[in-house]
Amino acid sequence: MVIPHANSRPIWLVTEAAMPRFLAAQGPASRAVLSAQNFNAERHRVMLLPNEAGDPTAAVVLGLGELASLELLRWWHVAGLPDKLPVGRYHFADALPDSVRYQSELGWRLGEYRYLRYRAAPSSARAQLDSLGNEASERAKRHAVACSLTRDLINTPANDLGPAELEAVMQDLALRHGAMFRSIVGDELLTANFPLVHAVGRASDRAPRLLELRWGSEDHPRITLVGKGVCFDSGGLDLKPAAAMLLMKKDMGGAAVALGLAQALMQRGAPLRLRVLIPAVENAVGSNAFRPGDVLRSRRGLSVEIGNTDAEGRLVLADALAEAQSDRPDLVVDFATLTGAARVALGPELPALFCNDPVVSQSLQHLGDLEADPVWPLPLWDAYDDELSSRIADINNVSSSSFSGAIFGALFLRRFIEPGTAWIHFDLYGWNARERPGRPVGADAQVLRLMDRYLAERFG
Ligand code: BES
Ligand code: MN
Ligand code: ZN
Repeated sequence: MVIPHANSRPIWLVTEAAMPRFLAAQGPASRAVLSAQNFNAERHRVMLLPNEAGDPTAAVVLGLGELASLELLRWWHVAGLPDKLPVGRYHFADALPDSVRYQSELGWRLGEYRYLRYRAAPSSARAQLDSLGNEASERAKRHAVACSLTRDLINTPANDLGPAELEAVMQDLALRHGAMFRSIVGDELLTANFPLVHAVGRASDRAPRLLELRWGSEDHPRITLVGKGVCFDSGGLDLKPAAAMLLMKKDMGGAAVALGLAQALMQRGAPLRLRVLIPAVENAVGSNAFRPGDVLRSRRGLSVEIGNTDAEGRLVLADALAEAQSDRPDLVVDFATLTGAARVALGPELPALFCNDPVVSQSLQHLGDLEADPVWPLPLWDAYDDELSSRIADINNVSSSSFSGAIFGALFLRRFIEPGTAWIHFDLYGWNARERPGRPVGADAQVLRLMDRYLAERFG
C-alpha cells in the first residue's frame, strides 16, 4: 500500500444518504463552504473544500446522488473527475472496499483516455491520480492500460492500421511477454488451408493473414481467444452504402478486444495456456474479389455459398475457429463486430452473448453487471438453423430471412464448432455512439474486463 504524497488531495465519495454523517465529520471552514454552496451530494457534483489551515482547495467531495450504497458505485460515476479537477495530485480517501476502490480508480483512468495520434492534447498538464497500490488498484490500472490498447487500435483509421500493422502490434505484444508468435501471410494461407481468410482478404493489396500468439505453461487450462480482424469492411462487391461504411475502420474491434484481454492476462501472469488467433484482412473491392454466388471450401471441409460478401466476418472466423479447436482447448472465446442486427436488438452498449453452456452464460451476465461491463444473452436457436441452407453447398453465409440477423451470425459460426467444445461468442459494437465522461465518442473496449474477471474467477 502506498502512502499518498503530502500534496495529494483526498477525494471523498459521498451519497445523499451519507451527507449528514459527512458534514458532521467536517471542520467549520469546510462545512461553511458546503452549506453556502448548498451541496447535497447531487450526482456528479464536485466541490473543492478548504482545510482549517487556510488552504482553499485541500480536499474534493464528489456527490453520488441517490446511490443506495457505496458498493453500487460504478466506474462512470467518477470518470469525469480528471477533466473537472484543477491540475494537481489526488487520491481516493477512506478505506474503500476493494470493489469500490477498483471501480473508482478504474473510472479515473478510463476518464483520462484520449486518442492523440493525429493531434496534440488540448492542455498537457492534468489532474493526476495517486493509486493506493493494493491489488484492486493494480487491477484497475492493468484494465485501464489494456482498454487503452484496445481503444487505440479501434480508433486508428484503416489507412494506418491494415492487416500488416495489426500484425506488428500483436508481434510486439508477444515479444513483450515472451509469447510465441507466428503469422501466415497472403498465398501461404492457401497452402496452410485457410481458404476463407484468403478469399475475403485477397482483393486488397494489403495481404490477408492469420496471426497467432501462444503463451503460458502447457500444463494450465487451455483458453483460445479468436478476434475478428477486418481492418476495413467496405462490404466487398455487395458494397455497403456510405453511411454504413463510415465507421468500418472499427471492424477489427473483436481483434482489438482479444489483444487487450491477452495483454491483461499475460500482465497478471494468469495461470492459463493462452492462445490468440486473429484473421486479419481488409474486405475490399477488386477484380479478384470473391463474389456473391461463389462457393468456397472452408478449413473444416464444409462448402460455403456466398450469399453476400458483406457477411465476411463469419467467413474468416469460421477458419480461425476450426484452427482454434485443433489442440482441444478447455474454452474458445470469439469476439466480433459481426452483425448490425445485434445493434438493432440491443443497441450499442450491450454486446450480445451467445454460448453453448447456459451456466457459463448466466455467470457471464452476472459478472458483467458487477464489473459494469455488461452483456446480454441471445439464443442459439436451433429451429432457425436450416435457414442457412444452400441449394448447392453445405451452407450459405447468410439466411434468406431478414429476421434475427445476430442469431444467424452465431448459428453460422456454430457450424464450425465441434461437439464438446465449450464456446462463447460475443457480437459487439466496440464504439461509443454518444459522448459521456469516460466514454468519449469513439472506440470502446467492451467485454475485456468482464472476460478477465470471468477467467480469474474460474481458473485463477
Ligand atoms: N461488420 C459488419 C457488421 C456491423 C455493421 C457491425 C454495423 C457493426 C455495425 C458485418 O461484416 C456485416 O456487414 N454484416 C452484415 C451481415 C449481413 C450481410 C447478413 C450486416 O449486419 O448487415
Ligand atoms: Mn461486412
Ligand atoms: Zn464486417
